[in-house]
Amino acid sequence: MQQRQGVIEAPGRVNLIGEHIDYHGLPVLPMALRQRIRVQFETRSDRAIHAASPGYGEREFLWTDSLEPVAGGDWENYLRAAARLVGGRWGILNGVDLSIQSDLAAAAGLSSSSALIVGCTLALLHAAGVEASFEELMEVLPDGEQFVGTRGGGMDHAACLSARPGFATLIEFRPVSVRHIRVPEEWTFLVASSGVKAEKSGAVRERYNARRKAGSTALATLGASSYGEILNGGRDVEALAASLPTVEEREAFLHVTSEALRVRRAAAAMESGDASCFGRLLVESHASLHERLHVSCSELDRLVDAAMRSGALGARLTGAGFGGCAVALCHSREAARVEAGIRSAGFPDVFSA
Ligand code: GLA
Repeated sequence: MQQRQGVIEAPGRVNLIGEHIDYHGLPVLPMALRQRIRVQFETRSDRAIHAASPGYGEREFLWTDSLEPVAGGDWENYLRAAARLVGGRWGILNGVDLSIQSDLAAAAGLSSSSALIVGCTLALLHAAGVEASFEELMEVLPDGEQFVGTRGGGMDHAACLSARPGFATLIEFRPVSVRHIRVPEEWTFLVASSGVKAEKSGAVRERYNARRKAGSTALATLGASSYGEILNGGRDVEALAASLPTVEEREAFLHVTSEALRVRRAAAAMESGDASCFGRLLVESHASLHERLHVSCSELDRLVDAAMRSGALGARLTGAGFGGCAVALCHSREAARVEAGIRSAGFPDVFSA
């Protein structure tokens, strides 16, 4: 076994628009953050994975082809998820030492969990001298994360793998592809924490899964095989929604179909530099997430209001919701004023993406 060492960097992301639709195979528009997880790796001569991370402590386990999760909430599950998917897909089981550092807030809707799994997956592959393609990784990462207890869509992994500074990433699924769109110089995206932790385990996981299920059930009730089929088929979305039997299905269906259209419009607005249009779409997205999907909370609503009152062109919750962060768009020349307004409304944790 050849001795190898190196460092992998896996950035977090802020989703600009396209919320709760990636798991239905619809496009999303996230942007990578400067904040990231760094995974230093070095091959070992045995079959153990040993990981150390300041604040989280040390973990060690034997890398076998039958890894099971440990107790829920233990960060070792992220390491096991990476090891299991690398072992399962590439047949690698060689021991590795990992040293993990992060400046990415956890449980903030900024994709720290996926960044950790992506970083560890790439570290285990590189330690074995394997270069996997973006497509190969995207085939296994979203399912791999289910091991930790969540089964989101592929947005976070795709954003983390394909990040390019200064660009937003339009991610399409089925098949997966990315297109980088330059963020206009005069636009600033601020990211602010609501102060409410959104741990993707326990209650939040159940609520997340319920939204996903309502959207899928609506589709099945309508006898459609995908949302793409409905959106591209020129069907009357309002009439279809009205025919659904439960309020949960109707609301999820209307959120998903309208959010997908907003993503298309937002990508076009970014390309043409139309900041007012992009801002309006953010506001509409938040309203839909709040009123139809019920994934906002009073702190997030207050935060979005504070950003708008301070001069933002648009703002909305970002990520799964139920707490975490909001993203706001403002003219770069107004950024300091908007940031100060958000802070003085009681949300001190703000940074520009
Ligand atoms: C979480 C998931 C993503 C996505 C968002 C909501 O962050 O990991 O895949 O579904 O929620 O848009």
